[in-house]
Amino acid sequence: MLPQLQTNNSTFAGRYWSEYNVLRRYFPTDRGLSILSFGCSTGEEIYTIKALFPQAELFGCDHDWYNLRLARGLVGSCASIFHSTEAEVIAHGPYDIILCNSVLLRPSTMVNGRKSGIDPQLWSDIVNLMHACLKPGGILQIVNSNIPFRMHGVADDYEPLRSPLLLGPNFVDVFDTEGRLLCSGVNGAGVTAHCFRHLGEEGWRDLRPTDLDDVHFRKNGSTAIVHPVLDEKIPNVATKPGYATGSTTYRPVLTKDNRPSTHQEIDVSWTASVSDVHITRSTRRVWFDGTTASTFETSICLTGVAAGAYLETVTGRESSRLALAALLDAAPRQTPNI
Ligand SMILES: C[S@@+](CC[C@H](N)C(=O)[O-])C[C@H]1O[C@@H](n2cnc3c(N)ncnc32)[C@H](O)[C@@H]1O
Repeated sequence: MLPQLQTNNSTFAGRYWSEYNVLRRYFPTDRGLSILSFGCSTGEEIYTIKALFPQAELFGCDHDWYNLRLARGLVGSCASIFHSTEAEVIAHGPYDIILCNSVLLRPSTMVNGRKSGIDPQLWSDIVNLMHACLKPGGILQIVNSNIPFRMHGVADDYEPLRSPLLLGPNFVDVFDTEGRLLCSGVNGAGVTAHCFRHLGEEGWRDLRPTDLDDVHFRKNGSTAIVHPVLDEKIPNVATKPGYATGSTTYRPVLTKDNRPSTHQEIDVSWTASVSDVHITRSTRRVWFDGTTASTFETSICLTGVAAGAYLETVTGRESSRLALAALLDAAPRQTPNI
């Protein structure tokens, strides 16, 4: 069995919905794709992926037998769920996509007066395993790792795929491969990245803005062309009459701390017509030294249930989780079947 990484098993349907959506658009078809959820917990990640990749072959592994039991109950009919051993992970591969979300970390603890996260050797071994099982041209999605993927030896064999649709939901403490603390994650008020910030620790100058933002890494070796997912613009939207408009500005509350910090500032405006919502979002990452590390402008159009879910959320009528359940056409859970 592989050693245990993250001990917390929290997950929910619709988590990382934007990341999965962008991922879907890197592949012209989902027919014949093979996808592994490494650290699938109780199966909601696979449940969500199934909605976007209905024809793909799905796999999930976890360290914890109880999580596996619940995962089999939820998605056992559409995915192979297995115990996380090196042999099993290899035997079910190779994969076109490996999802490794909120797994490559340990809740930080104090060791000899210093913060410590995942064991760097363990992190390295698991990344090596995923690298060995990913097809050429395949994509690794990593959310929340204690050590940036860039610092692994195999990273030279990968191209980060960036998209302004993604805000980089990395809210954990970040270390280098020597165990030196680069920055501390500070919890915010929500489940998405922009509600969090990081405080600079002794080695923050070795961190790059992309270390906190990148989630998709494409393995070299395929001749297939991958187009960047820059935005989603539906023609004619601007010519339709708007019936309601709104805007939101997000600025984190900066608590008093002498350390430098990095955070994101976001301005969103939306116009709703009868059948869709047109959203424009500007994002700026303010780096530890006060400079602007990156800016993104995104323009998207939501239609149907997604548009309804958005309006429900911004007007405070229903929680985004309930709306996402509707978006995924959630079915009742099945009885566990092992
Ligand atoms: C926070 S959950 C993440 C669930 C899901 N990936 C998500 O993002 O919603 C972390 C999961 O990683 C699992 N895990 C820990 N060590 C593992 C290992 N060596 N192999 C596979 N899964 C592991 C835990 O049991 C837990 O269910």
